[in-house]
Amino acid sequence: MIPHALRRILLSTALFAVGAGVAYAAGESAARSAILDGYAAQAKAEAPIFAGFSADRGRALYLGPHAGGKADTNACAACHTPNPAAAGRHAKTGRTIEPMAVSANPKRFTDRAEVEKRFDRDCPNVLGRACTAAEKGDFITYLSGQ
Ligand code: HEC
Repeated sequence: MIPHALRRILLSTALFAVGAGVAYAAGESAARSAILDGYAAQAKAEAPIFAGFSADRGRALYLGPHAGGKADTNACAACHTPNPAAAGRHAKTGRTIEPMAVSANPKRFTDRAEVEKRFDRDCPNVLGRACTAAEKGDFITYLSGQ
């Protein structure tokens, strides 16, 4: 039998760990929301008819294929895999890429500088042009629900 005092310590430690985990997840989701809000403001400035992000458009962007891309990278899914909850594999280097779905990888889309750096690199590779702010928001909206 675990002594009563020890049980209390174990219980409060466990509760603290759960609480810290919840607070951490809340921080990640707030960071993601802030990034999405930034893209929404930018999308509105680019096109006043902008009426919100679409997970369906994000899915189409993710899965492709896109005419502007090179044969081996004509979709985001070429490296990030058609199943965003699975780990991807870089089409050129073969290196493993962590899952893009937020459910499988809660750190996704929480570091604005990293997100922008990757959109700047990956969109021209796949589309032959930069992504618009609306496309970036659609993409993150789709993967936030996966
Ligand atoms: C040639 C391979 C490749 C293709 C194709 C590709 N990506 Fe990526 N992407 C990567 C790599 C490598 C990383 C960085 C590793 C990581 O974040 O796990 C990454 C990361 C990202 C991130 C950063 C996510 C974060 O949480 O910081 C975004 C955003 C992204 N890609 C968007 C896209 C979009 C949009 C497309 C399609 C238009 C696309 N990628 C196509 C290789 C690719």
